[in-house]
Amino acid sequence: MIKTVVLLSGRGSNFKALLEADLPVTFTAAISNRPDAAGLEYARARGIPAIALDHKHYQTREEFDAALIHAIDGTGADLVILAGYMRILTKAFVEHYAGRLINIHPSLLPMFPGLRTHEAALREGVKIHGCTVHFVTAELDHGPIIIQAAVPVLPDDGPDSLAARVLAQEHRIYPQAVRWFAEGKLAISDGRVNVREDGVSQWVLAAS
Ligand code: GRF
Repeated sequence: MIKTVVLLSGRGSNFKALLEADLPVTFTAAISNRPDAAGLEYARARGIPAIALDHKHYQTREEFDAALIHAIDGTGADLVILAGYMRILTKAFVEHYAGRLINIHPSLLPMFPGLRTHEAALREGVKIHGCTVHFVTAELDHGPIIIQAAVPVLPDDGPDSLAARVLAQEHRIYPQAVRWFAEGKLAISDGRVNVREDGVSQWVLAAS
């Protein structure tokens, strides 16, 4: 079983979806930079170590990320999953976990990197929006794409209704991506990810 650490900062619904997906991984810890993150409760409820590492106690981003690496590697983790982790990562951190650090982003990357993606999608008037699971590289919200899901943008959508439609798909594609990783099926070449499995789809089109 692949040893996996989840980093989160808040609600933790993606972490919950991963826990409920019965994946072939062992969660060795959930770590949050916010001690009060609701998502840590899902770990506690399952007897998974829940670690709070408050970034406010560190002088620099480099010091904090070094402590984070220490905590993650202390669990023997092979894979690091970002699930609503709201901190910019240092280059040293990203390089340390190259090829085994994945993230979910609430847009169809490379469109709408950064925050407030649903507002941006509505502002631009796009008719299709979605979410992306990708390997993390030093460039924010870039990196080889593992799987994407697309949803329609409806005429009366606001940021909340659109976010909810996207989130339902996040909960679907993140477990799929982690399963592929755990089964050793992901191959990266020329910055692109392929799945070593016949007939598998790396996209989801959700009607609603
Ligand atoms: C999700 O929308 C995810 O795509 C983004 O942060 C949000 C986290 O939500 N990176 P949750 O904490 O998993 O509920």
